[in-house]
Amino acid sequence: MSKNYRAELVGVLGDPVEGNPTGAMEEAGFAHAGLNWRYITVKVAPGALDDAMAGVKAFNMRGVNLTMPHKIDVLKHIDELSDAARVIGAVNTVVCRPDGTLFGENTDGKGFVQSLTDRDISLEGKAVTLLGAGGAARSIGVECAMAGARRVTVVNRSEARGRALADTISAHTKADAEYLPWQGTVRVPEGTDILINATCVGLFPDVDACPDIDFDTVAPGTVVCDVVFNPVDTPFLKNAAARGAICVDGLGMLVNQGCINYTLWTGEKAPKEVMYEALKREFVGQ
Ligand SMILES: NC(=O)c1ccc[n+]([C@@H]2O[C@H](COP(=O)([O-])OP(=O)(O)OC[C@H]3O[C@@H](n4cnc5c(N)ncnc54)[C@H](OP(=O)(O)O)[C@@H]3O)[C@@H](O)[C@H]2O)c1
Repeated sequence: MSKNYRAELVGVLGDPVEGNPTGAMEEAGFAHAGLNWRYITVKVAPGALDDAMAGVKAFNMRGVNLTMPHKIDVLKHIDELSDAARVIGAVNTVVCRPDGTLFGENTDGKGFVQSLTDRDISLEGKAVTLLGAGGAARSIGVECAMAGARRVTVVNRSEARGRALADTISAHTKADAEYLPWQGTVRVPEGTDILINATCVGLFPDVDACPDIDFDTVAPGTVVCDVVFNPVDTPFLKNAAARGAICVDGLGMLVNQGCINYTLWTGEKAPKEVMYEALKREFVGQ
C-alpha cells in the first residue's frame, strides 16, 4: 500500500480563537488545490505558548499563524525574521523549515497593501492617516510606508504607542511620520489620500461603535479603509461612503494575508477567489 494518510498541518494559536474564520478560508484553498493539508484552530492560553511551540515542532507542523496574545511572545522562538517583521516587532506567521528552524513573517500589512492593489489603488506618494497604533496598525503603517507612502499620520489614544509607531516608521522607512493625539472628535488632516481604521472600534459585538472622527473632514474621493471584518459593512465605512469616499472593507486584507500565508507554507499560488468565497460564506446572515 503506497497511499499517504498523513496530512500536513498548519493552524492558528491564540486566545480567544473561537471567532477566527481563517481555517475555513485556508482549508477551502487546500481542498481546491487537492492538497491533503489541515488548518487547525487552537486555543493557547497566555503563558502556554512555549509548550505550544514545542508541540508545533513535535507535530512536524509546516507553520502557524499567531494571534492575540502571542504575536510578540513568539519572537523568542524564531530563528530568522523577515525585514518587515523585525521593524514591526511582531510575527503573525511562522514557517517551519525542513531543517527545523523557524522563519517569522508579518503578513497583516502586506495583506492590507494587496487589498488596495486589488482595487488599483497605489500607495506611491500618498498621504495616509492611520487610526490606531496596536498590532494591526503597526504592520499596516510600516508596510504602507515601505510601499511608497509619502506621509503617515498616526492618530492614537495612547500617546506612547502612537509616538512609538510614528518613530518606527520615520526610523526605518523613507516616509515622513507624525503622531496626532486623539482627543475628542478627530479632524482628518487636510490632504489625506487614504484614511484607515486600524483600531478594534466597531468589531463584533460592538457593531454600532464608530471611531470618533469628524466625517465632515473626510473629503469626497478619499480612500477609506476598515480593518474590522466582522461585521464587513461597519458604521465607519457607511459614514465615509455617505461623504463620497471610496471604501475598502477588512475582508480584502484578511483574504490577502491568508493567501500570502498559503504561499509561504505550500510554495504554491493561492486560489484567491475560492478562499474569498469561502470567507464570505462565513459571514452570510451575520
Ligand atoms: N482584516 C484583517 O485581516 C485583520 C487582521 C488583523 C487584525 N484585524 C483587526 O484589527 C483590529 C485591531 O487589532 P489589533 O490586534 O491591532 O488590536 P490591539 O493591538 O489591541 O490594538 C487596538 C487599537 O485600537 C485602539 N482603540 C481601542 N479602543 C479604542 C477607542 N474606543 N477609541 C480609539 N481607539 C481605540 C487602541 O488604542 P490605545 O493604544 O490607545 O489603546 C489600539 O491602537 C481588530 O478589529 C482586529 O480584528 C483585522
